[in-house]
Amino acid sequence: MPARPGLSAPAQRRPSHPDWWRQAVVYQVYPRSFADSNGDGLGDLRGITDHADHLVGLGVDAVWLSPFYPSALADGGYDVDDYRDVDPRLGTLDEFDEMVAVLAEHDIAVVVDIVPNHTSDRHAWFRAALEAAPGSPERLRYIFRDGTGPDGSQPPNDWKSVFGGPAWHRVADGQWYLHLFAPEQPDLHWDNPDVREDFHRTIRFWADRGVAGFRVDVAHSLVKDMSEPYPAAAALPDEFRDHGEHPFWDRDDVHEVYTGWRRVFEEYDPPLMAVAEAWVASERRARYASPDGLGQAFNFDLLESPWAAESFRTLVSANLDLAAGSGTSSTWVLSNHDVVRHASRYGLPQGERGASCDAWLMSGGTSPRLDIETGLRRARAGTLLTMALPGSAYLYQGEELGLHEVPDLPAEVLQDPTWLRSGHTVKGRDGCRVPLPWTVDGSSFGFGSNGAHLPQPRWFGELAVEAQDQDPGSTLNLYRSALRQRRELQGDEELTWHGTDPEVVHFERPGGWHSVTNFGPRPVVLPEGSVVLASAPLDDGMLPQDTTAWVVAG
Ligand code: NOJ
Repeated sequence: MPARPGLSAPAQRRPSHPDWWRQAVVYQVYPRSFADSNGDGLGDLRGITDHADHLVGLGVDAVWLSPFYPSALADGGYDVDDYRDVDPRLGTLDEFDEMVAVLAEHDIAVVVDIVPNHTSDRHAWFRAALEAAPGSPERLRYIFRDGTGPDGSQPPNDWKSVFGGPAWHRVADGQWYLHLFAPEQPDLHWDNPDVREDFHRTIRFWADRGVAGFRVDVAHSLVKDMSEPYPAAAALPDEFRDHGEHPFWDRDDVHEVYTGWRRVFEEYDPPLMAVAEAWVASERRARYASPDGLGQAFNFDLLESPWAAESFRTLVSANLDLAAGSGTSSTWVLSNHDVVRHASRYGLPQGERGASCDAWLMSGGTSPRLDIETGLRRARAGTLLTMALPGSAYLYQGEELGLHEVPDLPAEVLQDPTWLRSGHTVKGRDGCRVPLPWTVDGSSFGFGSNGAHLPQPRWFGELAVEAQDQDPGSTLNLYRSALRQRRELQGDEELTWHGTDPEVVHFERPGGWHSVTNFGPRPVVLPEGSVVLASAPLDDGMLPQDTTAWVVAG
């Protein structure tokens, strides 16, 4: 691709150090909800470029963009029509290049989402498969099968889609295709070399434009055992406990795909990075994170943990060991576009926590009662704790504003396929995808000039960037300070545990950087040294409940 005047060459848009990602802070942008530059109600790439100052002010090392590819949005963009283009509503390839170049000027790398398990049903391959005959090469890029029953009118088996309902959909000539997610997301057939080669092309396409790496969607799926007889849904092995026995999750053969990707990653200098979204048993995560594979994998353990010292300590320790054992660094995630925001999770009674809080969402956020202050207080403490850990921190847009989930979106605006496919019994993920508030008032709180694709609640205004920018106690300024301090204090990927109080998580990083979190009601004494940051005011020099402080010894 020839460089255009004013834009740096693609290679210069990537970080120069091969290990840049190991302890990076990566900020997830959900593009449709970040900022809308053209007033169509949908966030877009120019909106990201226009708000580069926000990312620079925060001090992030990279942004990870959720899909911005052409898509009918049957699943928020995870239904991709074309892997090597930009949705015209979100911009153009030139605007993508401009965004990457502007961020690179500020040393912010770009990581893009890649969705290899399924295309959309509007992808050229799937349209060709529908036009072609059963058994044709076009159909062999997907998983088409004949139905069962005397006239083939029953699906090939009773497997269920993740979003609810059957995992098979029938086409006009009577065959069925597999979709582990929505019917608009037909699963690709990864034994087919066409599929493997095409993804290598996609990786090179974005890398040649200056992308530094990839977030790999449902990395533990892709390769399937479709041999018959199919196990019945009720007889499928537990996906988190099996050892490669499940027909469609976490099969050992999937790693051959990533060995191939690794070869492509190594064509670049420095090599591309990747992070796997793999919901697998922790001990099976290592293979995805291996340096011969994708290199890093999301660890969702803290995101699923209750707010409890013992649980945090155990999970941190186990994950650091696992990451070290596979030659990678650990990742820490408290929120993303698929789960209830952590400020809200931590404000719900213990039993209602967990990533989805389905019952609370179904009640429109009324039952059980959300303790807004406690939720935010814990979220701030949890964030400081995770930012002090060795490894990389993945942040989700809006958490730096202390945003809560929007649990009361009216049914008619819900977009998540889960809502429809669960027969309106599971609300889904729209409440964490509501467009960001930038200004205290005005049209869509500064998100765009003409409304937002999901309605923003009134309370968004007081949490807007504008409202928090100059307030030294704001969550936004806590994040800014935390990232700045973290950069200064960061050292080797090591940690030493301290203390014996079961309600306290206290560890030290090289250079005398202590992080102390008090989960219990009794204020605790901090170690000797200067308190460089705290998630809430101290109580007479003591660390109060649900608070984290960073102390530098000496
Ligand atoms: C995981 C993504 O994070 C989620 O948003 C999406 O619905 C599924 N994969 C299917 O692509």
